[in-house]
Amino acid sequence: MRDVAIVGVSQTKFGELWDKSFRDLIVEAGLKSIQDANMSGEDIDSIYVGNMSAGLFLDQEHIAPLIADHAGLNPVPCARVEAACASGGLALRQGIMAVASGYYDNVIAAGVEKMTDIVDATPAIAAASDQEWEAQQGITFPALYAMMAKRHMYEYGTTSEQLAQMAVNGHENGSKNPLAQFQNKITTDQVLRSGKVADPLRLLDCSPVSDGAASIMLCPAEDAKKYTDTPIYIKASTQASDTIALHSRKSLTTIESTVTAAKKAYDIAKVTPKDIDAVEVHDCFTINGLLAIEDLGFFKKGEGGKALEDGETKIDGKIAVNPSGGLKARGHPLGATGIAQAAEIVWQLRGEAGKRQVDGASIGMTQNIGGTGGTAAIHIFSRDQ
Ligand code: COA
Repeated sequence: MRDVAIVGVSQTKFGELWDKSFRDLIVEAGLKSIQDANMSGEDIDSIYVGNMSAGLFLDQEHIAPLIADHAGLNPVPCARVEAACASGGLALRQGIMAVASGYYDNVIAAGVEKMTDIVDATPAIAAASDQEWEAQQGITFPALYAMMAKRHMYEYGTTSEQLAQMAVNGHENGSKNPLAQFQNKITTDQVLRSGKVADPLRLLDCSPVSDGAASIMLCPAEDAKKYTDTPIYIKASTQASDTIALHSRKSLTTIESTVTAAKKAYDIAKVTPKDIDAVEVHDCFTINGLLAIEDLGFFKKGEGGKALEDGETKIDGKIAVNPSGGLKARGHPLGATGIAQAAEIVWQLRGEAGKRQVDGASIGMTQNIGGTGGTAAIHIFSRDQ
């Protein structure tokens, strides 16, 4: 297997983007990442695009050739990768495996979702849960994560105030990210007074409905310096599965797919949680961010709430969590999220993250979740080969 490097990244602005179509977004992101790598279309061997459901959001399937065509990249092979909200993370993994195996050299791994063109996104998002046992019974994603939050509160005494810190931290960092959907700071009080969505989760505990795209250029590590002075190296790319339905899980307070994939990733990269300088976690709801910082081993099970309360997850804290603003503030266009997380870590490791820069960051990590954890994709990145 060959080592793999990232030589170009890009992200569109995330938000409710009425003036941009699905194809505008993915083409903008893809072309900017090619430019960022000082490449041209002729250099590209293959494209993988994460997308959860252009079918439900836009009535558009067969998006892979549509994307290659509108980017002016025909006849480059393009494939769509789907794993609900982890579609981007898996597209990145497919691209890495294609380069590592020697099958292709220069590969684009991208992600895109246009969610705001339908009246109600909730049923489309619910398609990522178990239809028979969950969605058809009326259980939406906020409700599924609310049950996990209730259980964490019951088992560990976690409070709404502690959960709110995940959102406060996200908005604080998002206020320094010009590509974030929300660039306003919020207070604990604002979170606790926002409208209830699914008890105990309130509006400001939730990631928003978003449009956006992000893209990454991969190549063999040995070629990376041809394209950039600041390549970032992939140290581990792992994935694990768990039951799609929540009721079949052994525990509601641990996402086993995260634990399994993270353990493998730490082993492959030969690092421990202590070595990670910045992490982008999948905080689609505040409780999922809290579960992530425990399941990734940054804090013991049950102690995530206290760590959030003590400010240990701030940019200058013990571990910088979601310097981009996370799903909560940067936004969560489902298929684009895993790629946007990786793009943020690349900017951090290059030292290009502006006002949200984590001082001296050299090793970073991403955790991208599909559904309530049926899929987990973990990546570890390093400035040094
Ligand atoms: N955080 C902060 N503000 C938000 C927000 C969020 N998550 N969602 C909406 N808003 C704001 C809007 O910008 C709008 O502000 P404005 O009045 O100043 O323009 C206002 O709240 C109302 O927006 P609206 O779109 O009508 O909200 P909504 O009640 O229809 O939707 C949620 C709110 C929480 C239900 C929706 O954002 C949601 O479903 N989020 C979860 C998405 C999800 O499940 N993703 C997959 C995870 S697995």
